[in-house]
Amino acid sequence: MADDFSVKLTEKYYTPDPSYRQNSWIGDYQEAYDEFRKDPEAFWDRVARELHWFSPYAKVREWKYPYARWFVDGKTNITFNCLDRHVQNGLRNKVALIWKGEDDTERIYTYRQLLREVMRVANGLKTLGVEKGDRVCIYMPMVPEQIISMLACARIGAVHSVVFGGFGAAALNSRITGAEAKVVITADVTFRRGKSIPLKHIIEEAIINAPSVEHVVVLRREKTQPVEIHKEMEIDFYDLVHAAGTECEPEVMDAEDPLFILYTSGSTGTPKGIVHTCGGYMVGTYYTTKTVFDIKDNDVYWCTADPGWITGHSYVVYGPLSLGATIVITESPPDYPDPGAYWRMVEEFGVTILYTAPTAIRMFMKLGEQWPDKSNLSSLRILGSVGEPLNPEAFEWYYRVIGKNRCPVVDTWWQTETGMHMVTTMIGERMYPGFAGKSIPGVVADVVDKNGTPVAPGTGGFLAIRDPWPSMMRTVYKDDERYRKYWNTIPNWYAVGDLAVKNKEGYIMVLGRSDDLIVVAGHNIGTAEVESALVSHKAVAEAAVIGKPDEVKGNIIKAFVILRVGHTASDKLKNELLYHVRITLGPIAMPAEIDFVATLPKTRSGKIMRRVLKAKEMGMDPGDISTLDD
Ligand code: WT7
Repeated sequence: MADDFSVKLTEKYYTPDPSYRQNSWIGDYQEAYDEFRKDPEAFWDRVARELHWFSPYAKVREWKYPYARWFVDGKTNITFNCLDRHVQNGLRNKVALIWKGEDDTERIYTYRQLLREVMRVANGLKTLGVEKGDRVCIYMPMVPEQIISMLACARIGAVHSVVFGGFGAAALNSRITGAEAKVVITADVTFRRGKSIPLKHIIEEAIINAPSVEHVVVLRREKTQPVEIHKEMEIDFYDLVHAAGTECEPEVMDAEDPLFILYTSGSTGTPKGIVHTCGGYMVGTYYTTKTVFDIKDNDVYWCTADPGWITGHSYVVYGPLSLGATIVITESPPDYPDPGAYWRMVEEFGVTILYTAPTAIRMFMKLGEQWPDKSNLSSLRILGSVGEPLNPEAFEWYYRVIGKNRCPVVDTWWQTETGMHMVTTMIGERMYPGFAGKSIPGVVADVVDKNGTPVAPGTGGFLAIRDPWPSMMRTVYKDDERYRKYWNTIPNWYAVGDLAVKNKEGYIMVLGRSDDLIVVAGHNIGTAEVESALVSHKAVAEAAVIGKPDEVKGNIIKAFVILRVGHTASDKLKNELLYHVRITLGPIAMPAEIDFVATLPKTRSGKIMRRVLKAKEMGMDPGDISTLDD
């Protein structure tokens, strides 16, 4: 692990309009936080009571380091809270889900309709022999049926394992066999930039040598030339659903029963099957969706993530639906058919809360302000960001161009493993560009050294979490050793694997993964920091930085840079960039080499795969690239 290192911090901040705090669910952040610290169990008990339990829990939490149980002996079903509860409480005809296809098709489900569909698919799964505890793999494009399938599993207590529709056959096979899925739900095609991309053959390949799979359910979207169904194993999605009844009582689930498994790539080794449970996950995502996005009855909420990732699980599906919110989703990429597509959607649907990723924001920056400026974005009231550090330049652009200097930006730090938001700047609080913020009430996060001692402001360290929280993962599927490692690395803390630094006010800036740290001449430098410095230059659209072994310095920094439209690569520009980094970060952080490139290797969730760049640079095997986007 790294030694301490210091980081120069800017002090610029923005203060949101006081009305945000006055009208928010959270109210005054510090008061809410103190309330939580005074009695954490009472705090979470109050939250959990807002949801429906078939029978109450005996205890809020039980903590036997490093194992936690939450809402002990409580019985519930997350779909009851996401659907039935609203149907029974006057929201039956409220729009739950708006879907927009690439070809401008729209599909809309009210809460009543969504519940009906979920119950039908749930019954369909039952006819295939799916029972409580069985695993079901969902490998689908971003269509309503993807969400309906997740909820249908949860309805009957089956454990879903959603695999992002962009994964290839080998990655899919390892996830299916890892979870021993009994049924796979898929679609014939996904539509991407006007083309239909076949999915079914990927499944066909992936279930060879996957003996657990008994049935494949296929959603057939191509109507003119429907894909063939192989009756021995496969069944058409709607044939299955139409044969099933429309009433399906929710399975009574113990709070600690598993709700889903979601595979996440480790910094090394095979993907980890992160296990989340019914009760704690439900409470954690409900609470954070309510307070971080401040969801109110008439909000129109759009999270651009695919449900195939944790962001989609927690903040497209379970959190927003448990709040009875209206959610918007689309299968379209942000710049299709043109870079104005997303902004037209904001205007058209009157989106009030937009939650997206820094990589998308930087792409929009590169494309230019003229695109968002064509649409009326005045419906927006809160902007969110997730997935990687939101560098100050991207923050400023998002805040000014999209939020018109009016909407709070919540940069939410969390992980697949945490299930819910952990660190952010609650709306109404001062925003420091580049800083995610503080622990949300309910969470104790801090920046610590390798012994677990909190470090002083300005000193870098490890982001870590103390004490359990309801939606924490319970184990890594069939690999509990890997689970324990999170809690054994830094004594008494959950080690998240990110480097961070706090400012004097206690705001946390996430610098990047600790495994992406570069040690140059004995100094530790976060890749994200250098990248952020490069991106702050007007000619740079995106940058990725790696450490390259060097005989004298241990490592040198090598940068890969994508230029913004209107700038051309030249030695002069290279020098300008070096000078720029020297001025912003200091000579120690200066790249020794800069390559201008057209693209960067990224995961399908938009994270730059630095190890692929590094392997290429050093003429080595890049290792597992199953998550690499094309
Ligand atoms: C890792 C977790 C959480 C949903 C998407 C990613 C990075 C995530 C932020 C943020 C800086 C962030 C961290 C974290 N990360 N959000 N707001 N600022 N870094 O989930 O694939 O489990 O990745 O993403 O490095 O550890 P994930």
